[in-house]
This record gives sequence, C-alpha cells and structure tokens, in this order.
Amino acid sequence: MLLIKGGTIVTAERSMRGDVLCDDEGRIAATGPDLEQPTDCTLVDATGLLVMPGGIDPHTHMEMPFMGTTASDDFYTGTAAGLAGGTTSIIDFVIPAAGQRLFEAWQDWRCKAEKATADYGFHVAVTHWDEQVHEDMGRLVQEGGVNSFKHFMAYKNALMIDDTVFLRSMSRAGALGALCTVHAENGDAVSFLQAQLLAAGETGPHAHPLSRPAEVEGEAAQRAIALATLQNTPLYIVHVSTREATEAIAAARLKGMKVYGEVLPQHLVFDESVYHKEDWLSAARHVMSPPFRARSHQQALWGGLVSGQLQTTATDHCCFCRDQKGRGRDDFTKIPNGVPGIEERMSVLWHHGVVSGRLTPEQFVAITSTNTARIFNIFPRKGCIAPGADADLVLWDPTASRTLSAATLHQNVDYTLYEGMTLTGVARKTISQGEVVWDDGTLRAVRGKGRYVPRPAFSAAQAF
Ligand code: URP
Ligand code: ZN
Ligand code: ZN
Ligand code: ZN
Repeated sequence: MLLIKGGTIVTAERSMRGDVLCDDEGRIAATGPDLEQPTDCTLVDATGLLVMPGGIDPHTHMEMPFMGTTASDDFYTGTAAGLAGGTTSIIDFVIPAAGQRLFEAWQDWRCKAEKATADYGFHVAVTHWDEQVHEDMGRLVQEGGVNSFKHFMAYKNALMIDDTVFLRSMSRAGALGALCTVHAENGDAVSFLQAQLLAAGETGPHAHPLSRPAEVEGEAAQRAIALATLQNTPLYIVHVSTREATEAIAAARLKGMKVYGEVLPQHLVFDESVYHKEDWLSAARHVMSPPFRARSHQQALWGGLVSGQLQTTATDHCCFCRDQKGRGRDDFTKIPNGVPGIEERMSVLWHHGVVSGRLTPEQFVAITSTNTARIFNIFPRKGCIAPGADADLVLWDPTASRTLSAATLHQNVDYTLYEGMTLTGVARKTISQGEVVWDDGTLRAVRGKGRYVPRPAFSAAQAF
C-alpha cells in the first residue's frame, strides 16, 4: 500500500488539500484529509505538490510501420518515456497492412504492446471496406474492448479512404456504439499540391506546409462533420491545427452535435518558420501532418481549449531518427511524417497553458486526462481520483523548472522539438498501478507491466 500525504489533490472539478491511499491491487482505496497510515504502508510526502490524475495520451504511434520505415519508440520505451513525463496511459493506433483483416491487425498490435510498461488501449484504423471489415468491427467492439475507429482522409494511395468508405464505417460504428475518429486533411488536394511543388523544383522541407495549407484541413474537417451529420454519429477530430477546423467543430457543437477536437502541444508552440531552418535536418525534424502554422491558428487552438470547444490534448508521438528523416533528403514528400512528444506534453501544457494564465490547474487535468477518459469511455477507471479508480497519478511540482534536452529525455529518438527550452511544471513522481515508477529523476519502469485497458461501447445517452 502507498499513502500519498500532504499534497493538494487536483481533479477536473476542484482542488483540495488531501491524502490518497492506494491499495495493493493498484487502485485508489481512499482520499481525504489526514488519512491514517496503515501498517505496512509506504509513505510518499507530497508537501508542496499537486496530486493529479496521470496523463492519458489518446494519440500515439509506437513502433508504427509508416512511409517505408518504423517509428523508433516501441511500446516499452515510449510508455516508459510517458511515465517520466507524468503520462500513465496511452491509446495507440492499430494500422492494418494492405489487405490485412482488422481483427488480425489488432492481435498483432496486442502482441507488440505486451512489452508496454504503462496501460494502453487501441483505436483501430479502417483503411478499406468489405464484408470482413464490417464483421471485424463488430468483433472488435463486442469481444476486443475497442470503442473507436480511425479514418485517414489524407495519405493518398496509402491509408486514405474515400467518403463512401467513411460513411459505411460511420454507419457501422454508430450501430455498434463506437466513436469515429478522423485525420482531417483533403488527401487529393495534398497529393496534387505535392506534385505541383515537386514539378516546380521545390523539394525541401519548406514545401511541406505549402502542400498542406489550412484550407486543406478546414475543408476535410467540414466534410467529416457533414458526413457524421448524415449518419447522426459522434465524431472525434485528431490533431486539430487550424482556425478553420476549430470553428467548424464549435459551429457543429452549437447545433448540438457530438463533435470533439484534439490539440497537440507542438501545434500550440511552433509556427511555420521551423520549416525555413538553414539546416535540412532541423527543418525535416519538424515535418509532421498537419504542419505547424501561423500564430493566428495557435490563438484559435488556445481559444478552443479554454472555451471547451476542443476537449483533449495528445502528442501524435511518432518518432523518426536522423537516418529515417534522411529518406526524404531529395524529396520532401518522402520525409517520414511524425514528431516525438509524449515525455514533454504535460510540462509544455503546464508552462504555456497554466503558468501563462490561460488555463486553471483543473482545466489542465481536464485536457490532459479526464476529458479523454470520458470521451473514450474509460472514466472513472482512468482520469479520476476517487476510491475504485486506478492508482495512476502524477505528483506535480507547479513551480519547479527544467531545461529540456534529448540527452536527458527517455524517448528512443535522437532529438526533441523543445531542445534547450526551459519550462515550469515538472513531474516529480509518477505512480502507475499504485507504485512509484518515476521518482525525482529515477525511472523504475518494468517491461510488460502495462495492461490492456478494454473500452466498452457507448450507450446513446453516454457520450461526453
Ligand atoms: O505526421 C504525422 N502526424 N504522423 C503520424 C501519422 C498521423 O497522421 O497521425
Ligand atoms: Zn503475444
Ligand atoms: Zn494524423
Ligand atoms: Zn497520428
């Protein structure tokens, strides 16, 4: 047993002084002021610290095969890095290989994830349509603990689906009580613009954002919302990066639609100037989709988070090292798309969100943990500090600062976007399944300790 004493418990609703007792099954047994210390119980002093639900990252790609290579963080290294940053669970993506059955792909990903040190679940991507997809979606929801499916409107000739497939999947997901999630970029437009840029001799990373302007995302977000309206199904838009998409989500919500939006901290912090760095590798390391954008978009994303029109933050953690990024040296369309961030997310959001005065600590908990748990139906097991919930917690130092560097981070990748940046807000201790696994700079991650967290289907009234 573990007794966390003397801290301030912060939930999405309120903050209060109080202790947290964790039982030997890795769950919270009691919370309250001045809890008695049972015998055989380890004491953790949380004086001066905030005790918050561990972060949940609903968008990661550990060891994902993508663009001819495989993301360098695996389920062990990636989830371990998460613990060091205060994130205690992830929802990753099952991406079926061409022609592979969804259920079989999900089994493959279950195997890969057995090495995870923190809890995890999966969204499953629908990348084509046939009777077997229809059947496997049912099996995944009913037997597999999957309640969300992913759709790519971009990555033409790879993961992209057309509107017919999307509608079929929405119809099926709606009937099953599952949530459709979407990468909203018009893949035909991207492909067309990429070809135009290459033909004009624009081969460097600076062409990446030119091939994916804000209109490309705005159009796709609006189309996805329109399709969801036709099927009357809820919709979750991943990595929202534009004012256009934010406004489309807000407008749909004003009409009463269940549309949710996710924001990545990197889109809040970096702008398009990163693609003009002198050194090719520095620019290529920022290549992800959607790209980093002008400041006016960042203001809209902050506004979305502050107002609650955008509900969650994720990282899209998808790591590629120097040699992997180098695949696109002569052609920006071949630079593997993706950036790291699971270890940095909580600090970046505390510093730029809470220290800056934009968000309250309670809102921070909502956007890093609780809202995700609710939307993906793992609340109150996750995202909650109450008896019966999993004892996944972060003991947060709200005033300590640290300077980020790839040399001291734990992610299995050779850079961080935040190199040299000093941020206020540090995970002092992370508790996973009732045990201290990150202790003031010492990582005690155990390979294979992470558990698959099944997520039940939604009832119609349940959606967040
Ligand atoms: O560039 C990105 N985001 N890479 C990962 C795949 C995706 O689109 O989420
Ligand atoms: Zn296995
Ligand atoms: Zn995406
Ligand atoms: Zn992604």
